[in-house]
Amino acid sequence: MSDTATAFAPASIGNVAVGFDMLGLALEGAGDRVTATRRDAAGITIAEVRDLDGEPHRDLPTRADENTASIAARALWDEHGESGGVELRIFKGVPLQSGMGSSAASAVAATVAVNALLESPLETTDLLPYALEGEKYASGGTHADNVAPSLLGGLILCPPALLPEVIRLSVPEGVSSVVLHPDLQVNTEQARRGLADACSMEQWLTQQGYLAGFVAACASSDLAMIGRTLKDIVIEPQRTAALPYFEAVRDAAIGAGALGCSLSGSGPSIFALCDDQQAPELASAMAQACRGFKIECQTWISSMSAPGARLET
Ligand code: HSE
Repeated sequence: MSDTATAFAPASIGNVAVGFDMLGLALEGAGDRVTATRRDAAGITIAEVRDLDGEPHRDLPTRADENTASIAARALWDEHGESGGVELRIFKGVPLQSGMGSSAASAVAATVAVNALLESPLETTDLLPYALEGEKYASGGTHADNVAPSLLGGLILCPPALLPEVIRLSVPEGVSSVVLHPDLQVNTEQARRGLADACSMEQWLTQQGYLAGFVAACASSDLAMIGRTLKDIVIEPQRTAALPYFEAVRDAAIGAGALGCSLSGSGPSIFALCDDQQAPELASAMAQACRGFKIECQTWISSMSAPGARLET
């Protein structure tokens, strides 16, 4: 049993357009890192939160009851920890309020790191409920569409009705995800509060059909069917009305060959799925469209089988 452990957890695309609150995809290239160290004093504390440049993070609290990482870590330690406590060091690589699962990545990395300090560590899949505690604090709801892919990697179906059970889905061959993050922030809790609490039977039927079709198309690598089904007719229209660049970025993605394009989580980031070969061109077309609105942005290209959280030595 070690006294210290560091874990990395990747960013993720929540909803993946078709599955509001129940479908998530892990991303390569961006993530959070948490180092957990045993301390004699009881409880979970945060020693520091740093940004990508190694500077103290300007916007994130080091109070343990206000940070998703420590809240998740505490949930695990309270149930499975021994005497003493744990001190966390958090290194944020995922931009805040980006729609890329920033709070989930911190919660997952903390959970995986603290798990490694336990006398009898849990299986990775059994860490989900603890990481979800952190996410619940951040977004005000129990949805695992960021936490589950960040923890497990790949494409994960995680309907709230089935939690903590989740289902790993097959990913299509030869398809990449592209994420564009405009230099803006959207607060997920607020974005959720603004949603209509009902949809029509016709919308429900259509969206259900898209989700079922998308899941089947991923399993059979049917790219044409992915293109027909990667759509959100219920949530996306409600959220994108406030994002003036959305339509232009989506049109640029589709124009460059995307199979589909939608908001990543609650935004402001936008993701597209496309043929691997087209991903670099797609990313640059999306970025150019975004900059046309004088909004700076960053893009990531990822395999759909991006790995989930892991311990680092
Ligand atoms: N599925 C949630 C939402 C979280 O869209 O509000 C996304 O990150």
